Amino acid sequence: MKLLRRRLVLGALLGTVFLGLLVGQLLESWTSSMNLRPPSPRISLRKFEWQARTPHPLDLNYPYPYPFLINHPDKCKGPKGAPFLLMLVMTQPQEVGVRQVIRETWGNETLVPNVAICRVFVLGLPQPLFAQEIQALLEEEDKEHGDILQVGFLDTYRNLTLKVLMGLEWMAQYCPTAHYVLKVDSDVFLNPSFLVHQVLHPERPTQLNFITGYIYLDSEPQRSLDDKWYMPPELYPQDKYPVYCAGPGYVLSASLAIRILAMAQRVKAIYLEDVFIGLCIQELGIKPTPAPPDAFLIIRQEYEHCAFHQLALVHHFKPQELLQLWPDFQTVNDTCPME
Ligand SMILES: *[C@@H]1O[C@H](CO)[C@@H](O)[C@H](O)[C@H]1NC(C)=O
Ligand SMILES: *[C@@H]1O[C@H](CO)[C@@H](O)[C@H](O)[C@H]1NC(C)=O
Ligand SMILES: *[C@@H]1O[C@H](CO)[C@@H](O)[C@H](O)[C@H]1NC(C)=O
Repeated sequence: MKLLRRRLVLGALLGTVFLGLLVGQLLESWTSSMNLRPPSPRISLRKFEWQARTPHPLDLNYPYPYPFLINHPDKCKGPKGAPFLLMLVMTQPQEVGVRQVIRETWGNETLVPNVAICRVFVLGLPQPLFAQEIQALLEEEDKEHGDILQVGFLDTYRNLTLKVLMGLEWMAQYCPTAHYVLKVDSDVFLNPSFLVHQVLHPERPTQLNFITGYIYLDSEPQRSLDDKWYMPPELYPQDKYPVYCAGPGYVLSASLAIRILAMAQRVKAIYLEDVFIGLCIQELGIKPTPAPPDAFLIIRQEYEHCAFHQLALVHHFKPQELLQLWPDFQTVNDTCPME
């Protein structure tokens, strides 16, 4: 039985990798055929007029009443009362295996004793190719785990801002009594115990206007067209980004999340979700709070038992690696130096 389950998980993982590659490649060819090249000087003026009226391919339609297609209105109202921490985990529809690994490792809701954690996976609509198959898998998976939040927009990297904002909208509507919200990507190592006890401190009053993570103080838009994070000047003309917390994982008080959401109805949305949250808090006149030193690492660091017990998050971990390291991470190791 256990073996069968392992095999299923493994199969799903492999499937994810394969499908991910396939979809990735399709997307690649699709986006590169999109309008990302500089117009040749010979293109007629009419083309520019046309472009001025047509939305940019990186433009986001927000605010917009995207529907919750798979929803759990009562997920947050568990027997343990208002969650201390709501985890909004960003995954793509086809990543069945990734979600299962997260449930069994850092996404486990009962990992931190006496602290109520509520975890949901936020995702959009599958790519048109295989959409029916993936949708059926998703519904099956949700029947078993009841933790999927599917929102009615196409799930692409360029739509990640919509995913985050709709996650926050879900919080505002169905989980307004949470104390803190974590936005986290699926390719990270997370240490929920450190996050809760050393960053958020449940014994203290919930901090207002609180957001933390890995803080970028002085970054600039990428203007080269082949960059993954290319930012067209027509969508963001300024030379600098605001101060912001890096996308792989940041945590904020629920009250600030509500204020950000209100601001997001007025600030023009851009596809880099972390920069966009930075723009919203800048408008609110709020600066991120520094986390404990080196608690959030955006550069990969190899797993080491003691070091990983003294941090909150490390970017760039694959599900297979999480499965491998998790049993060791869970063991009590008395040789670690006390801080
Ligand atoms: C979550 O953690 C608890 C306590 O450590 C454990 O008993 C449970 O099996 C875990 N759940 C999953 C899905 O791994
Ligand atoms: C974002 O989602 C909308 C709504 O489904 C879709 O029309 C649009 O093409 C998507 N944008 C990108 C850049 O993927
Ligand atoms: C405890 O951690 C240290 C340092 O990471 C490691 O060398 C040692 O093998 C670990 N001991 C146990 C019992 O896991």
